[in-house]
Amino acid sequence: MDVSKRILTNARLATLVDTGAPYGLIEDGTLVIEGGRIAWIGKTPDLPSHYSSCKKEDLGGRVVTPGLIDCHTHVVFGGDRAREFEMRLEGATYEEVARAGGGIISTVKATRAASEEDLLAAALTRVDALIAEGITAIEIKSGYGLDRDTELRMLRVARRIAKERPVTVRTSFLGAHAIPPDYKDRPDAYLDEVCLPALEAAHSEGLIDAVDGFCEGIAFSPEQIRRVFDKARDLGLAVKLHAEQLSNLGGTALAASYGALSADHLEYLDEAGVSAMAASGSVAVVLPGAFYTLRETQLPPMDLLRQHKVPIALATDCNPGSSPLASLLLTMNMGCTLFRMTPEEALAGVTRVAARALGLDDQGTLEPGKRADLAVWNIAHPAELSYRIGFNALEKRIFGGSE
Ligand code: NIG
Ligand code: FE
Repeated sequence: MDVSKRILTNARLATLVDTGAPYGLIEDGTLVIEGGRIAWIGKTPDLPSHYSSCKKEDLGGRVVTPGLIDCHTHVVFGGDRAREFEMRLEGATYEEVARAGGGIISTVKATRAASEEDLLAAALTRVDALIAEGITAIEIKSGYGLDRDTELRMLRVARRIAKERPVTVRTSFLGAHAIPPDYKDRPDAYLDEVCLPALEAAHSEGLIDAVDGFCEGIAFSPEQIRRVFDKARDLGLAVKLHAEQLSNLGGTALAASYGALSADHLEYLDEAGVSAMAASGSVAVVLPGAFYTLRETQLPPMDLLRQHKVPIALATDCNPGSSPLASLLLTMNMGCTLFRMTPEEALAGVTRVAARALGLDDQGTLEPGKRADLAVWNIAHPAELSYRIGFNALEKRIFGGSE
């Protein structure tokens, strides 16, 4: 028997390939893995005869999806912000907490004080929670250092996660996340003296896959973000942006003009921004965990995004302030309940579309040639993944063909 092959049979395969069937579902399906990739997928009776002598794993009718992808996280950070949670419950807004020196800046202090080992150990607790729900790829941002050494330390930790656990990691440099107190009222000086040099240094160490920023009244203006994106372009790096989260500054259109992989949050996005995204092919990453935590009432323009055929991804935004959420399954439920996504859109948003938001061409769907990153679920229909709350039906996770 050939042990380099693995054949999973008697499965309901939610391929997420656009076949016309909801979820790209193949009933009574079989999937062949060879060399860590999907070699064949289809209906069991159509399995080519040369596979007939191989041992088969009977999945008992279980649902198989692509491994889930969390395409927007800040899982590397020091400390926590439980006290801020209390302040917000007492009536302070996220912006008020930030302006009073709390918010992102309080996590910056804790992150600067933490060693690489401490940051890694803490991040792994969050990554493990995600992996336990079938995640096979995760995006991780810097942005709680805001000085060169700590930004680089965060990114090294992110890279180490891919060595410590069977998961694909994509890193984003988020030096333009907040203005550190020592540069208060001097954001351009911060960019010149810290952020842009740190970006170059991190790139030369091979620590960055993309460049992100936070375009907002409490963070950076579109003109300042433009400077960061110009540097990214010089370095040949893709960009993405936290945009239109608390107000509309036109960050999304700016990101689109740089061919951004994605624009994220988007509660205050208008139709001009949506058309700019449609033209650039950028993904809209919606983050219901932050919407929920901040008790936001302005919904992202879901119908406009659909009308303009902008692909929509969903992510946890796992971070200590606006989204202390380490469950992508709960995020899917929130995407449906809060943002009125369909369960099919939610599953596409954490697989096919999330892969696109990260520029990962070889994952996110079940089709020949893609990585064999799979999740096997003890459910009868893929809609159950979004429907249940606080329930993890993962039976097993396969990463590059192995458990
Ligand atoms: O994605 N929007 C800006 N950044 C994070 C929040 C980070 C924090 O509050 O620590 C976000 O929501
Ligand atoms: Fe974020």
